[in-house]
Amino acid sequence: MEKRILSGMRPTGKLHLGHLVGVLNNWVKLQDEYRCFFMVADWHALMSEYQNPEVLEENIIDNVVDWLACGISPKGSVIFVQSQVKEHLELYMAFSLITPLGWLERCPTYKEQLRETKDRDLKTYGFLGYPVLQAADITLYKATAVPVGEDQLPHLELTREIARRFNSLYKKEIFPEPKALLTSAPRLLGLDGRKMSKSYDNYIAISEDAASISKKVQTMVTDPKRIKRTDPGHPQICNVHNYYAIFAPERKKEIDQLCRKAQIGCTECKKELAQILTRYLEPIQEKRNKLLKNKKEVFDILEQGRIKASLIASQTVSEVKKSLHI
Ligand code: TRP
Ligand code: SF4
Repeated sequence: MEKRILSGMRPTGKLHLGHLVGVLNNWVKLQDEYRCFFMVADWHALMSEYQNPEVLEENIIDNVVDWLACGISPKGSVIFVQSQVKEHLELYMAFSLITPLGWLERCPTYKEQLRETKDRDLKTYGFLGYPVLQAADITLYKATAVPVGEDQLPHLELTREIARRFNSLYKKEIFPEPKALLTSAPRLLGLDGRKMSKSYDNYIAISEDAASISKKVQTMVTDPKRIKRTDPGHPQICNVHNYYAIFAPERKKEIDQLCRKAQIGCTECKKELAQILTRYLEPIQEKRNKLLKNKKEVFDILEQGRIKASLIASQTVSEVKKSLHI
């Protein structure tokens, strides 16, 4: 069987360096080894953003532009928007028939989100079914593997369980059980040392300009024990140093030494980091700007993606309907 990947992202905001090193760089590499399907999960975004859907449209295009600028290739990969392939909802319905409520109510991500989300009401029927739609996304293309972060593992496990249950109920091996490809990507923290996230406003966007990068990097939390310029630093606990490790590994060792010997100040160290990040993002932003000037190209790519995705999706749904005698 062809090695196939499906992965998706919810278009809830601008993509940032965390997405770039944690997800996108990995997607780019996977394209060499797998047939890849990369999906904008707009229905999933709506499950939590249904009260303010107006931001979606803009984010969808902006995120896809980022994907393309970072090296996702429309030649090899299928890039599409979930809501444009209606079969996702058909399979979601079919899976809803056979998914026990207990599996969903017990899902750790569900319980956590309900507990932690205060600013909107997630006690909806749709939100409970979040992993069922995700299972449909993955199995619709008979993906054999899904690149996921640690946080998505429960969803993948549910996908495997739902696929297994469907196959066994209807006595047909329609769906392969996809395996998780855990990303070994380095962890990039936000400016304040917490997880990089839109909701913490501690991120550097892929589209961030040089001036703003500079300003943001200067706010980064460093070694708290280094109060005076002459205090020796502890780079191993400094987030700025961790950024060097990821974005300028060749410079990491020297910074380490300079910091320990108090031969470089934090302001200077950050100034250099800002330059490194600006240079790192330069070719990506150049591609971004080209695409933004020619949005038709982006819409064409999504239309081609829709066509290719629909072809496979409709075959799978035919098989499913046959099993259900409809
Ligand atoms: N739940 C995923 C996230 O929040 C997004 C997603 C939707 C997804 N469908 C998917 C990821 C299918 C992988 C495969 O990141
Ligand atoms: Fe961190 Fe650089 Fe300051 Fe050392 S000099 S504490 S690595 S910011």
